[in-house]
Formats: sequence, C-alpha cells, structure tokens
Amino acid sequence: MTLQHLLQDKLAAALAAAGVPDAQPLLQPASRPEFGDYQANGVMSAAKQLKMNPRELAQKVIDKLDLTGIASKVDIAGPGFINITLDPAFLASRLDHVLEQPKLGVEPQQPTKRVMVEYSSPNLAKEMHVGHLRSTIIGDTLARVVDYLGHDLVRGNHVGDWGTQFGMLTAYLVETQQAGNAALELNDLEGFYRKAKIRFDEDADFADRARDYVVRLQGGDADVLALWRQFVDVSLKHCEAVYRKLGVGLTRDDVRGESSYNDDLPIIVQELHDAGLLTEDNGAQVVYLNEFKNHDGEPMGVIVQKKDGGFLYTTTDIGAVRYRHKTLHLDRVIYVVDARQSQHFQQMFSICRKAGFAPAGMSLEHVGFGTMMGDDGKPFKTRTGGTVKLIELLDEAEERAFALVSEKNPDLAEAERRKIAHAVGIGAVKYADLSKNRNSDYIFNWDLMLAFEGNTAPYLQYAYTRVASIFRKAGAFDASAPLQLNEPAEKQLALVLAQFGDTLNAVADDCLPHVLCGYLYQVATHFMRFYEACPVLKSEGAVRASRLKLARITAETLRTGLDLLGIEVLESM
Ligand code: ARG
Repeated sequence: MTLQHLLQDKLAAALAAAGVPDAQPLLQPASRPEFGDYQANGVMSAAKQLKMNPRELAQKVIDKLDLTGIASKVDIAGPGFINITLDPAFLASRLDHVLEQPKLGVEPQQPTKRVMVEYSSPNLAKEMHVGHLRSTIIGDTLARVVDYLGHDLVRGNHVGDWGTQFGMLTAYLVETQQAGNAALELNDLEGFYRKAKIRFDEDADFADRARDYVVRLQGGDADVLALWRQFVDVSLKHCEAVYRKLGVGLTRDDVRGESSYNDDLPIIVQELHDAGLLTEDNGAQVVYLNEFKNHDGEPMGVIVQKKDGGFLYTTTDIGAVRYRHKTLHLDRVIYVVDARQSQHFQQMFSICRKAGFAPAGMSLEHVGFGTMMGDDGKPFKTRTGGTVKLIELLDEAEERAFALVSEKNPDLAEAERRKIAHAVGIGAVKYADLSKNRNSDYIFNWDLMLAFEGNTAPYLQYAYTRVASIFRKAGAFDASAPLQLNEPAEKQLALVLAQFGDTLNAVADDCLPHVLCGYLYQVATHFMRFYEACPVLKSEGAVRASRLKLARITAETLRTGLDLLGIEVLESM
C-alpha cells in the first residue's frame, strides 16, 4: 500500500470511530515543515456540516487515530487541521527493502486496467512539425507510467492517412515515379506536398486525376491503394526517424490510421440511424446534441455524413471508439491531443455514449495541452514565419547541447561529447515541455531549457551523475544494512523517496507529467541538502552504510523517474 493510502485508511477509520463515517480525510503532504509531514484537512468541513466545534472533533478523531509505529507526533493546528509527523523508523522500514524489490517497491495500481494511450497521431500528408511535439512526448510519458503501474498498455498512433489530400499526393507520386526522381523528392515531404499542391492548383488535368484517385482509393482499387501505401510508408519512415531521435516507444504495430476505419463508416452511420440519433439536414446526416448549444441557444449539430456521401474526421473517431470497445476491450482511452480539439472530443464522446459504442464503464479522456510559443509569445515559427520541422528542431537541440558540453569538457573525446549532447539536448527539449502544466501554453526557450541550474533536464541529469559518482569512490557497500534516519536532512530525503508510488499514481490518474517532474526536482534538491549536511564517504560503520543506501535509492529513483519521462541519464558527464 502506498504511504498516502495507508494514512488515508487510518484516518478514515478514525473519522468513522469518531462518529463521522462519511467525512473525507483530505490528506496531503504538508505544505510547510512546521506542519509535520502530512496534514489532514477534512475535519473542518465535517464539523461544519454537523455544527460541531472543529477542534473538538479533531481531538476526538486523534483519540481514535491509531498510528502506532507510523507517526511520532500527531497534533491539531489552527481551526482543526490534523498534522502528522512520521516516525523516522517507520520511514526507514518503508524504504529498507525497495532496492531488492521490482519497480522500487511500487505496487500495481488497483484495479489494473486495459488502457490505451493515443498519442502523436500526425497527418501523414506532411512532415511532423513542432505542433506534434507535445502530443508525442506527453503521450509517451503517460504510456510509460501507465505501463510501470502494471496496467495492460496499448499504444495508439491515430495517424491521418486518409482524405482528399491523398489523391493529390498519389497523383504526384505517379508523376515523380515516371520522371524517375520519386525517391529524391520524397526526402523532403514538405516540399513534396507543396509541389503537389501547385500541380493541383495549376493543372486541371492533374486535379481531375487526383480526384479520380480519391474515389478509387475509397472504393478500394488495388492499384491506387498500392501507390497510396508507398506514400504512407515513406511518410511513416519520416515519423519513425523522429521517434528514434526522441527515444519515443511508438512502432509500426501501434499505428492504426484513419484509413483503417474506412469500411466501418457506412455501418456506423447506419447504426446511428437505427439508434434514432440522426436527422437529415440539407442532405447531410447530423446528430443534434442537446447538451451543446450554439450561439442562438439551440442544440448543436454534428455532421457525420456530408451531402455528397463523404464522411468526416468525427465519423472516423466514432469508428475508432467503437473498435476500441468491441475489438480491443479497453477500459480507458487517453487521447493526447491539442486542447483546441476539446469540443470535437466532448461531442464525439457524447455521440458514442448515446449510440452505445462506449459503455459507461469505459473511460474516454481527452488530455489536451496548450501551444508551444516562441520568445515573442506567439506560436513557435521559423524566423521567416514558416512551420518548424520537428527533426530540424531536434538536430538543433543536439548541436546546442554539443556546444555547451564542449565548452564545459573540452578534453573529452568527441564521440563522448556527442553522446552526452544527445542525452542533454533531447532531454532538455522533452523536460521543458513535460515540466509545465500541460493545460497552459509555454514559451520555448533554448537558454532556459539547457541551463544546468533550476528545474531542467540538465540539472537532474547532472544530479544523477553526482550521486552515481559517490559509488565509484565508495567501493563495495552493504545494501542490506538498515537505514538510520537520525538527521533532519536524512529524514526529509527519505520522506520524499517514500512518496514515489503516490506520485506515479497521481500522474496516471490526472495525466499530468509535470507532477513527476516536480517530484524529481524535489528528490534532487533534498539530496543536495542531505549531501551538504551529512558526510557520506567520511562517515563510518552503520551510518556510512545507511547513507550510501539512501544515496543508492536516490539514484535509482532519479534514474527510473527520468526514464519514465523518456530522458536518458549518464553515469558521468
Ligand atoms: N491527425 C490529427 C491532427 O494532426 C490528430 C488526431 C488526434 N486523434 C484523434 N483520435 N482524433 O490534428
């Protein structure tokens, strides 16, 4: 059981014994050390409801609260807060065996579920650009955490590989193949798209061919499908180069693009019709949703089939939900997609519920995120105002990190400096994003993210190497020696380390990676304080063994936590 759960259960039992069984303990880590280690704030509202004196109720609860062997002190503060100070021996016992246990003693989150994290999901018509960065790295972190917590994880990459653009691209692919320079042209997908578009706009015959391809694609024409597949394959290879560089765990097996729902779309419209959800409006098939109102206060309509018979982005997403329930049997689907698509998801979820495509027990969650901004406070662009290719941004990150590393360590071999630069550069880009609350926009700033001070990847990576370096000097140490938490700095560090499982649970429940970043930063800063206050290598006997072990748990927690963020650590840098 995690620390939080253990204390919560004890408090709930005490509240019940004190006559308020329905009250919530409202337990949280203390905001200031003078409030102990945890504070429970639930007594106040319970007392208010029952018109009792809150301090009296708090006293009653404390009288019933059995924290023998857990807390060294429990007291009432202010109008009825309960402050809990943990017993150092108890904290030591929580941590004593984590090094021998799998996953640092973090137990599977109960109940375990079948969870899909859908992320990245670029449109394959063009190259990945910075707009795909946030989904890709936030999603990858959530996937890693969900997996670590013992759930049955399915990764999903809902790529945009369907629609009219693909007729145009296929037509242009045929032309470049005839000219014998397709391979060359496809190296730059962005340019490929631009040229195809120019052909489409300027040549009526080309445009006709493109439209004909769309029809034949949708009709399942084998020849055109084969061409389309070639294009999709190249485009996915571009994505995979980005994933590799980023260290993101998406593979071909995770790709299930919009095209794969093509055959289901007419069936879905039929089923929506049978469920009585469709209204015909000017030839289009529309679902009206009472819970969403337009400007005039009328129910909003969501089109699922156009007048010309074509289907829409929403129809495909409805198809995906249906598939994820019927075929994949998922309990929870997490959609990591730009916050600007929030309304689309709320409406789509609502339609799926009404149609029975998603049962009540299946959780559908849109995990939105804000925009990545440039220093000028506007969406991040190239100097000339173009979109920034993701692969170029990542190359630049590595180059900048290489310059920094070379300045710091000019004597290291170049290959070594490159290796560090990769870990630091990519880590910095990821961490800068992950450490901000995903709900807000954030400013992309090279100097801040690459700084070795503050809440940054380089700081944490460096902190890890500092801890690791202790072990190179220490020689063998006894990991079975019991922890002794006699100094305040030792106890504070141990407390934070003991909160690893609770932190991961919170990240998985609320889909907030910045909570993990903030936690790791705390681990690193508490370690630095401990290291300053408590000699490790110069101490002796049981104290030395205990301090080395605390350092080892710190190193493992930092390494594991950074790995869950998809950030590499190095033993030295
Ligand atoms: N391809 C879309 C885009 O680039 C994102 C897809 C998000 N996922 C979904 N199930 N709609 O905007």
